[in-house]
Order: sequence, then C-alpha cells, then structure tokens
Amino acid sequence: MANSILVGAQWGDEGKGKIIDFLTDEADIVVRSQGGNNAGHTIVHGKDKFVLHLIPSGILRRGKICVIANGVVVDPLALTGEIRALRERGITVGKNLLLSDCAHLVMPWHRLLDEQREVRNGKNKIGTTKRGIGPAYGDKAARTGLRVGDLLDGETFARKLKLRLAENNAVLRSLGAKPVAFRPLLESYLAAADELRPFITNTVVMLHEAMARGKSLLFEGAQGTFLDIDHGTYPFVTSSNTTAGGACTGSGIPPHRMDTVIGVMKAYTTRVGEGPFPTENAGLSDMLHGMGREFGATTGRARRCGWFDAVAARYAAMINGIDKLAITNLDGLDEVPVIKVCTAYRLDGKTLRHPPADTDAWARCTPVYETHEGWMKSTSHARKFGELPPAARRYVRTLSSLTGAKPGIVSVGAAHDQTIRL
Ligand code: IMO
Ligand code: MG
Repeated sequence: MANSILVGAQWGDEGKGKIIDFLTDEADIVVRSQGGNNAGHTIVHGKDKFVLHLIPSGILRRGKICVIANGVVVDPLALTGEIRALRERGITVGKNLLLSDCAHLVMPWHRLLDEQREVRNGKNKIGTTKRGIGPAYGDKAARTGLRVGDLLDGETFARKLKLRLAENNAVLRSLGAKPVAFRPLLESYLAAADELRPFITNTVVMLHEAMARGKSLLFEGAQGTFLDIDHGTYPFVTSSNTTAGGACTGSGIPPHRMDTVIGVMKAYTTRVGEGPFPTENAGLSDMLHGMGREFGATTGRARRCGWFDAVAARYAAMINGIDKLAITNLDGLDEVPVIKVCTAYRLDGKTLRHPPADTDAWARCTPVYETHEGWMKSTSHARKFGELPPAARRYVRTLSSLTGAKPGIVSVGAAHDQTIRL
C-alpha cells in the first residue's frame, strides 16, 4: 500500500480537489498537513458541487478517514461551520474526521492583523485571502500561538487567551484597529471547542498505527509550490511549506515512508493575489473568464491567467520530487488556435532555465515561448489518452518532457469521470 503526497505545482488552484477525489479510491486516509481555510478545493459529484476549505476532500466518501494534522492552522469557527454545512447536505462527519491537538488556532486578531497589514501595504499588498493565515503561522514560529489542545480545558484556555489577547489588542490599537472583546471571544471559542472535542486527538500516533495496519495515506496539499514560504515568490507567498516536505513535518510521517509525489498542474497557469507571473496574458485571461472559468473558490476573485510556464514547472518537479503529473484543465485550451509554452526566461540579456531567487528579478523576466498548434475541438468527452485529438496528445507529451515528470492523469472537466489515466 503506497503513501502518496499530492502537491500543487504552480500558484495554487491547480485542481487539487478533483484529483484528490479521484485518487481517494485507492487511499484509506486523506490528510491535510499545512495551510488553513485559505484553501478552496472544489469537488463535483454528479450535480453536487462541494468546496472544502479545511476538511480533507476524502470526507465526501464513505469509509475514508480524514485527518487535519499538526501542520494545519485551524480557525475553529470556520471548521465548525464547514462541518455543519456538510452535515446539512447529508455528508457524515463523525468518527471519519480527526483533528490534531498540536494544530495551531487561527484567532480573530490574526484575521484583523492580516487585513490591517494588507491595507497598510497599499499597492504593495500580498493579496491574501484575509483568513489570518500569515499572522497565525507567525505566532506559531514566535512560540506565542494557541493550539487546538488548549481548547480542551476551558479554564486553562481562558487564562492563556487573556494573556494573548492583551498583547494583540495593544498591537491592534497601535494600528488604529478596534480591539477584540474577551468574553464573546471566549464564549464562541469554547462553544466551538465543545463541537470539536470528539475529533481532537494525537493524529501522529493514529497515523502511525494505521500504517502499521497496512492502511495507505494520501496527503492533500493546499496552495501550490510557488506559494511556499521557502521556495515561492517571497513575499508573495502563503506562510506554510506547500511543497512535498511539508507533508512530513505537517503530519509526523517520516520521509522514507512516502512512496510517490503527484504534482498537479493546469495545462496553462493561473495565480490569484499579487506577485510575479511572467507568462500572464490578458487575452487568455479574458477568454477563460468569458467561459466562466477561473474565479477563486475561496474569495471569488478573478484569477490571473497565463501560458504554461515550464521554467517554473521544472523547478516544481525538482523541489517536490514529482513522480507523476496530473495535468488539469486541458479542456480550457480547447478553443485556443495557437498555444504558447514558456521554455526559458530572459533577464538582463541572459537566458535562465530556473527562476531567480529575487522576486523583483522574477517579475522582470520575460518569457521565451515556443508555440504549439491548438486542437480546436472539445476534449471533454475523452476518457482514454487515445481519444484526445493528436495535437492535444502532443501538448501533454510536451508538458511532460519540458517538466521532466511522467504524466499520470489528464483532466478534461470538473466531473469525476472526465479523467484520463495514462
Ligand atoms: P488552494 O489550496 C490559490 C494565495 C493568496 C495570496 C497568497 C497569500 O485552493 O490552491 P494567504 O491568505 O495564504 O496568506 O494568501 O496565497 N493563496 C492561494 N491561491 N489557491 C490557494 O489555495 C491559496 N491559498 C492562498 O491569494 O496570493
Ligand atoms: Mg483555491
């Protein structure tokens, strides 16, 4: 039984939810190991569309266990809201969900600070989801965070909360923002604690025991490689390790127990929020938005769109050790007569095969393109690789050879069956 890590290989929104759902057939346990409710993973089951933010996508399947592991930052009110919304739609959330007692809590001041920093940064803003993710991971690293386990004892939680709130209210006041009131905050978090109590456990031990019984794990990455706090387009990144290594630290499963890394990438590129994006293209953005595609699942923002960036993709394959590619949204290019692919960057008279570390330099890179003929035919009914138009097959092979990773899955639509295995 293999343990697999699934990562986004671009700037997030690669279609991870759909691919996770597809791969869940072969897994026993689906694990979220980083990020928070900044993620928005969309899964379409028949006529039903679900968007999950904190709960692993496996929750939609009977008999699958879902784990929110230690590396995730959890907004307890968002989590209880998500649990309730799923239950209202007839999805069972009970013994099939486990929440790490070591996961850090997102507090209201994190959301307020996130917002304040964005406002104060003005045109230099990051374009965050305003879910408090950066400040929550900031507290974790500063060793001033509160954790899920702190919710288990009301009195201890109240004491810790009071201390933390005093400091954060001082910061909020200094930024000209309204402080947070203690009582209602305590009450809402303790109410959430009561709802979450049955799920809270040591997920490290639970996962290791499950592996000892031969169970297989699927790690559901959130965000994408170039939003990684270490490897992304810093500071236009999120605050966790979105790359494959994050699955280990974020869950307590050692590297040598991981068997495969699946990198999910769109057949083109998108990014939401600010930051460098050399292959961004207004024409392609307009076309995709005109088709009703590429609007954010978490914030509803229109995503920036551009051509496939093989410089970035190659780097993503390297950092994550991608064994298999899942290429999504191939159908998004069905009506594009000439498709461009960026194979190198030009910067200050030099040709680059890897992205530069400096974000300003990355932003100044101009793409070197090769062009591919489009297939100008719907691919959405293809179920086998051989059923794709020849130009589409050539395009998939091109992405694979430029990236240096084998294609394993091609997705031609949001539905479960619009999936081709290679
Ligand atoms: P999924 O899992 C796309 C982006 C934000 C912003 C930057 C920092 O659905 O792929 P944050 O709120 O994390 O501090 O914002 O990261 N971002 C995402 N973009 N998909 C996501 O998640 C994202 N999560 C965060 O837009 O640019
Ligand atoms: Mg998203």
